Amino acid sequence: SNPTLLILPGDGIGPEVMTEVRRIIDWFGDKRGLKFDVAEDLVGGAAYDAHGTPLTDKTMAHAQSVDAVLLGAVGGPKYDDLDFSVKPERGLLRLRKEMDLYANLRPAQCFDALADFSSLKRDIVAGLDIMIVRELTSGIYFGEPRGIQADNEGGRVGVNTQRYTTNEIRRVARSAFELARRRSNRLCSMEKANVMESGILWREEVQWVHDNEYPDVELTHMYADAGAMQLVRAPKQFDVIVTDNLFGDLLSDAAAMLTGSLGMLPSASLGAPAENGRPKALYEPVHGSAPDIAGQGKANPCACILSFAMALRYSFDQGTEADRLEAAVESVLRDGVRTADLMQAGDRDPASTTQVGDAVLKALDAS
Ligand code: NAI
Ligand code: MG
Repeated sequence: SNPTLLILPGDGIGPEVMTEVRRIIDWFGDKRGLKFDVAEDLVGGAAYDAHGTPLTDKTMAHAQSVDAVLLGAVGGPKYDDLDFSVKPERGLLRLRKEMDLYANLRPAQCFDALADFSSLKRDIVAGLDIMIVRELTSGIYFGEPRGIQADNEGGRVGVNTQRYTTNEIRRVARSAFELARRRSNRLCSMEKANVMESGILWREEVQWVHDNEYPDVELTHMYADAGAMQLVRAPKQFDVIVTDNLFGDLLSDAAAMLTGSLGMLPSASLGAPAENGRPKALYEPVHGSAPDIAGQGKANPCACILSFAMALRYSFDQGTEADRLEAAVESVLRDGVRTADLMQAGDRDPASTTQVGDAVLKALDAS
């Protein structure tokens, strides 16, 4: 039977960029014999409008049963005043939580053709290709106790707790070691073992997984603050980086700016491997629903297209086809077929979302 995909386009530019991805999925079926059983459903504001909830139980159960979920984006001004419990973001959070997607993969890849869009000098970023693995389901954003209470001095105290267990660290470390093996076999783990107990445990447990299960991978440890400096000073020294939820949030956003536009950044969130070896998986662009450009055909579909390339690689073991798709995107950018977010003053007219999709399909045909 064919591998199964659930597509959740969501809100704003989500459906616009997903339309291009669907054409690409069809291309792989028609031209490469790589057929998927594709279903489509609502999430976020679109689901709220139809059902009064940002994710129905039925859609949630469906997401649990497929090989991979592909999501566009959720949210928009129309939903800003909704009660917290039915806000569009809650649909996404529910998916991540109930699928237990603990490893968030954020590649920072700088195509040569876009090196001038980086916040850094061309030499430092051209050809950059690193992967940050952020722990996504635990740490200081979830640890108890938490809250704001009265303190003893008539003021208040705000509390969050950083808490990591052996199992939580080991499982995300395994995801990172697996990735390192598929890439250049190098992993750098970042924490602050110099000042945090959870950092000491993090370092020891990542080392344990290395020594017992992945001795062939080159493992280094770095304090996360030093890592932030190194990411900006000489990012090409890294291959795979693994870190906790908080540090990963900051480091992956910083790394994103090494590569240029938000419209180029894909992501994957992976959970435990199932019996067939496939991890629970959700693929989505890093960007949001971009209400400022929604409905105008201006959205860059590349982040969503590259998210599907990640699905090919990490859920369906189609690394060669993922390379093919990434190369097609790169050639389109090199040819100058670009949406407005990738244009500079004086450039000719920007391409539309559909024109970029057309160009990627043409480049695939020529591959
Ligand atoms: P955003 O990522 O939607 O937009 C930020 C800026 O980048 C805007 O100027 C937008 O036009 C531009 N941009 C984003 N994606 C682009 C693309 N593919 N092509 C060209 N330009 C692009 O973030 P913002 O404006 O903070 O949030 C807008 C809405 O999206 C909010 O409701 C927010 O809650 C939601 N959001 C949803 C996310 C998700 O679904 N994972 C992530 C971030 C925000
Ligand atoms: Mg962030």
